[in-house]
Amino acid sequence: MKVLRSVAEARAFRTASATASIGFVPTMGALHEGHASLIARAVRENDLAVVSIFVNPTQFGPQEDFGAYPRDEPADLAACERLGATMVFAPTVDELYPAGDATRVQPGPIAARLEGAARPGHFVGVATVLTKLFAIVRPDVAYFGQKDFQQLRVVQTVARDLRLAVRIAGCPTVRDPDGLAISSRNRYLSAEHRRSALALSRALRATEEMWSRGERDPAKLREHLKRLAAGPGVGLEYVSVADPLTLDELDRPADRALISLAARVDGTRLIDNVLVGIALEALP
Ligand code: PAF
Repeated sequence: MKVLRSVAEARAFRTASATASIGFVPTMGALHEGHASLIARAVRENDLAVVSIFVNPTQFGPQEDFGAYPRDEPADLAACERLGATMVFAPTVDELYPAGDATRVQPGPIAARLEGAARPGHFVGVATVLTKLFAIVRPDVAYFGQKDFQQLRVVQTVARDLRLAVRIAGCPTVRDPDGLAISSRNRYLSAEHRRSALALSRALRATEEMWSRGERDPAKLREHLKRLAAGPGVGLEYVSVADPLTLDELDRPADRALISLAARVDGTRLIDNVLVGIALEALP
């Protein structure tokens, strides 16, 4: 497995493997089982699998955890090697944001809702870094987890609008056996706070069951989700029942929905969601 640090080396890698299909998994490191499932799929479905490890400063707000974001490159490289990645691209900040860098990719309204409203500028940073990475790695397919559903939709929309030659594949959320969605930030949680955090996935599961029993009123679904998720130790930021394509809040019964929430548990911000009435693979 190659580990490349410069844009020039990564471009040369792509040029040298021009006829191979490349599956790409962009990450910020601190790899966990969720990333492992994306990397395994990229390895399975393509000639070559490339993983990027880059903690992207432009997607963190001034009060967010950029400095404290977990970093463990030796463990990440070992995981990539074990999973069969061909190349890891791990550039420095100066490589991706050279002196004078001022260009930003501004996604449309899809980026303004939910996480975009809670974290202003976040998706501009995500869309900008991914546009750079796609231009350097030139993958055929890039893989993203459902846990960050809005990120997946923003990237699908940016790739469509900028006519990028990359297919964006959504992959199911990986959960611990008790249902907690796996996230790099879970490592901030004590055992007690982790137990509090379980209220989130349980509330989502119960609301999904309510949907399966035929409830379609978005206000009732939201109310149920809110009541179950707001357990002790959970500071709920939002609950949402939205159109899964536009992420507009539903104001009348629909035949598909993204049911999602965000909460703080002991200062750690967690998000999770379930998709109902439409398969992940059916997203345009
Ligand atoms: O999901 C992440 O880890 C990041 O937002 C991504 C897609 C690697 C862009 O920096």
